[in-house]
Amino acid sequence: MSTRHASGSGTQSRRHFLRAAAAGAIGFPMIVRTQTLGKNAPSNRITLGIIGCGNQAEVDLKEWLAMEDVQIVSVCDVNRGSHGYKTDKQFLGREPVRDLIHAAYAKRSASGTFTGCGICSDFRELLARKDIDAVEVLTPDHWHAIMTIRAAEAGKDIYCQKPLGLTVRDGQEMVRAVRKHNRILQTGSQWRSNPHIRQFCNVVRNGKIGAVKHVETYVAANNFFGPGPGWKPMPVPEGFDYDFWLGPAPQAPYHQERCLYRFRFISDYSGGQTTNFGAHSNDIAQWGLGTDDTCPVEFENLGAEFPVPGSLYNTATKVNFRCRYANGTELVCKTDKRSFGVRFEGSEGWIYTNGRTIEASSEALKSWKPGPGDLHLYESANHYRNFIDCVRSRKEPLEPVEVGHHTATICHLGNIAMKLNRKIRWDPKAEQVIGDDEAGRMLQQPLRGPWRYGA
Ligand SMILES: NC(=O)c1ccc[n+]([C@@H]2O[C@H](COP(=O)([O-])OP(=O)(O)OC[C@H]3O[C@@H](n4cnc5c(N)ncnc54)[C@H](O)[C@@H]3O)[C@@H](O)[C@H]2O)c1
Repeated sequence: MSTRHASGSGTQSRRHFLRAAAAGAIGFPMIVRTQTLGKNAPSNRITLGIIGCGNQAEVDLKEWLAMEDVQIVSVCDVNRGSHGYKTDKQFLGREPVRDLIHAAYAKRSASGTFTGCGICSDFRELLARKDIDAVEVLTPDHWHAIMTIRAAEAGKDIYCQKPLGLTVRDGQEMVRAVRKHNRILQTGSQWRSNPHIRQFCNVVRNGKIGAVKHVETYVAANNFFGPGPGWKPMPVPEGFDYDFWLGPAPQAPYHQERCLYRFRFISDYSGGQTTNFGAHSNDIAQWGLGTDDTCPVEFENLGAEFPVPGSLYNTATKVNFRCRYANGTELVCKTDKRSFGVRFEGSEGWIYTNGRTIEASSEALKSWKPGPGDLHLYESANHYRNFIDCVRSRKEPLEPVEVGHHTATICHLGNIAMKLNRKIRWDPKAEQVIGDDEAGRMLQQPLRGPWRYGA
């Protein structure tokens, strides 16, 4: 893919790098025997940088490593390597993840060894590499916008993990940068590439349950609770650059329950399960409703619960909000033992899925598939593969930046309505709160200097 960096020294250094790689000088794995000839030749591989080597990196790496036409050439994390992630077994961070990549590529190399994946703790170093085509942003949410925007400025395509930003403003800035720099961005809400989900949304979009009146979307209960009031700061572990982890977020004393994996329960870094699981379930609701280009117009709290004041965690422990689209369709998003799922109720039936099975008001609905003349939703068998294919073709991926931004906006506005405990009115076109200055101010969070969206 060197032609995509068709100007100046970028092309030069990329070609030099690939020549060296093809010659084995910098330890590229011998992925396929015909690598110097066929479609998987080094000069034709998409080169990828990974920013954030934590819990979800374990999942996503498997996807990238399985692709013969993709080469991970660098990883970045502010954590050198430690325990303290979602499960006790996980030992993650830039060094363990780099080692995992080396081991995977070594298995495929003729020599049985591989040491060619770069490593860094500052993502700007990774973005400065001219030999990198695309990046995955796999950090906590408070970094998604800055990293995506800087990557777009550096001419990289981006697979950004959901949700697209910590705030509505983050999402707006991401949309602007991706479009300005003509980049491909895939939102990491991978359930859209699930065949049950597509079938489920096809049923609804083809009117098989009639006019949709009511949608329910489910999010998981919290799996960590953090310390309560009176919690004491802890020393920062060696090898962990805490200040860089905080980045644009406000200065705050270190606690081990703040950062790795647990960040999702603190509003300076994430929106709790509303944005964590809601970025999946509300995303499917948007797809099924055909409202990817807009958002509901009204949001209200239905009885959310929050940790007691003074606790380290401050996002909802019980999510429960309702929103209404301009055509009157209602969506209720709530904590539920089903963790993830969507239920549509229409004038002629109902249908539910959790991505593994489909339940419906009739057997016929469960197995209905669109035929000729019906609407067929965008088909992708694998979200990551779809991204790489679009990096090559320059076509829109399944979930481009605007779509991810609208889904995230629903989650953010739901959080604002639950927090303020009053009805919020939203103008989806202007992307503004109507008649509520306090809620309007919550659409963004000041970035701690020297961080700003663009370089
Ligand atoms: N699509 C899905 O199903 C899914 C599932 C889980 C998580 N996610 C998303 O993935 C993202 C990461 O979640 P996680 O569970 O892996 O979190 P995590 O805390 O386990 O991993 C994040 C990693 O990013 C690193 N990091 C933080 N700031 C950094 C910086 N400035 N530069 C480089 N590295 C930095 C951390 O040190 C950590 O190793 C979140 O946005 C989350 O919503 C998506």
